[in-house]
Amino acid sequence: MAKARDTADRTASGGANAAIAVLVVHGPNLNLLGEREPEIYGRTRLADINKQLKQLGRELEMKVETFQSNSEGAIVDRIQRARRKCDVLILNPGAYTHTSLAIRDAIEAVTIPVIEVHLTNVYRREPFRHHSTIADVAHGRIMGFGAESYSLALRAARTIAQESRRRSA
Ligand code: DQA
Repeated sequence: MAKARDTADRTASGGANAAIAVLVVHGPNLNLLGEREPEIYGRTRLADINKQLKQLGRELEMKVETFQSNSEGAIVDRIQRARRKCDVLILNPGAYTHTSLAIRDAIEAVTIPVIEVHLTNVYRREPFRHHSTIADVAHGRIMGFGAESYSLALRAARTIAQESRRRSA
């Protein structure tokens, strides 16, 4: 019984055959993608990234939800709400990557595997961007591929969720 409930908790959307559910969370200033420093972040708008992710999700038979906030507390709230409802979290915390213990704690609290994503390779940028508060609690990190970082993450999310379901079957 305990095992059954444990399995149900982890197969977020209700059973081993349910579509893999992924939540994509974008942090502060990412709502301005396309117009914000395009020489650094590219010209693709956030709405287009989300549309591409939903399209790829349909192709891969995954359920993709997206969320953006400029506020740390709202991001923590959204991560908490995902618990037991989502198989993998794709997270670009923006500048909170470098400062937020609250987001790190939320990740540890919900025990959903997290893929940390960045448009840019933060190690080619200012030293203050080299530290991530979530790097060591993330399942993995993808950065430096512009908007494609997200689609690479979605493919990786599928592999992670499939492996986790196989383990709990
Ligand atoms: C970013 C990198 C962060 O350093 C920066 O504050 C961002 C975007 C990226 O996707 O490259 O807002 O997370």
